[in-house]
Amino acid sequence: MKALVTGGAGFIGSHTVDTLLAKAWEVVVLDNLSTGLAGNINPGAKFIKMDILSNDLLEVFRQEKFDYVVHLAAQTAVPYSMNHPDVDCRINVLGMVNVLEACRQTGVKRVAFASSAAVYGDAGALPIVENTDLKPASFYGLSKHSGEKYLELYSKVHGLNYVVLRYANVYGERQGDGGEGGVISIFTRRIYQNQPVGIFGDGGQTRDFIYVGDVAEANYKSLIAPQAAVNRVYNVSTQTQTSVNDLVAIMAEAAGKQVEKVYLPAREGDIYHSMLSNQAALNLLCWNPCMPLAEGLRRTYHSLKKTM
Ligand SMILES: NC(=O)c1ccc[n+]([C@@H]2O[C@H](COP(=O)([O-])OP(=O)(O)OC[C@H]3O[C@@H](n4cnc5c(N)ncnc54)[C@H](O)[C@@H]3O)[C@@H](O)[C@H]2O)c1
Repeated sequence: MKALVTGGAGFIGSHTVDTLLAKAWEVVVLDNLSTGLAGNINPGAKFIKMDILSNDLLEVFRQEKFDYVVHLAAQTAVPYSMNHPDVDCRINVLGMVNVLEACRQTGVKRVAFASSAAVYGDAGALPIVENTDLKPASFYGLSKHSGEKYLELYSKVHGLNYVVLRYANVYGERQGDGGEGGVISIFTRRIYQNQPVGIFGDGGQTRDFIYVGDVAEANYKSLIAPQAAVNRVYNVSTQTQTSVNDLVAIMAEAAGKQVEKVYLPAREGDIYHSMLSNQAALNLLCWNPCMPLAEGLRRTYHSLKKTM
């Protein structure tokens, strides 16, 4: 099988590439290296440095003849999207359409799309299930929602098969400070440098943290799932709430350090609790997140500190 991973030089993308190569797939990475690093790319993959908005994208698809596409390349920072909705829209909507056009014109069998819990906004009842009303509260959430709707219509109009994967807060090795789940790499840096960690609000706010290796496995499972499981949306999460205070405590233990916490004013618009149901992915994709948080954080801390 031959797969294209857009954004394969990034955090989740590079782990996805590793997973697909480990299954003996042929893998091509397409990335403009805007936030990704060439050093993240597994040497077993072919690398094409290109922007997803490029007019040359279709020619790449024609030459390479991909069976599957995992579309991860994106503008990933929520605050950036609030100040630059135009850039966010260009990359996450127009860039995505450029990818989908190339997919349909070259007969790609299935597209897996990295969406986000940000499409839900403040959803209310937990755990959040996939058919909850979507009320994105950021332009990033809106552009991801648009990407999902484009896929839905491409499927209806052109028969393109897709799987939407709404990731919760992803963490793990090779994570950058920006993007969605950056809190863990920011805390790692502070803890490593023996600095206090800044917590917005009272630290009781919870998130659903999922290890990047489990996310990469979900991406793979979405490509091999039976047709009956395709053309729908899945949360990719642990369905577990962890407070920011608990997160710091677990990270402190992983680092073997005492960590001072500094409480800052709560950020306007921040959702207090978040947890996504993962039952659909468990049942239909036959996927199971298996990394315990303490072990995942231990690996992440010791791997990220080497880069600091
Ligand atoms: N990290 C999370 O917690 C999280 C949560 C939900 C969804 N996601 C989604 O998962 C995907 C991967 O996120 P990540 O955390 O690995 O971020 P990342 O920034 O590490 O990876 C994004 C990659 O896309 C590349 N890229 C960006 N714009 C591009 C363009 N125009 N053309 C070609 N390549 C481009 C970057 O260079 C980078 O390698 C994104 O779509 C993101 O929205 C991430």
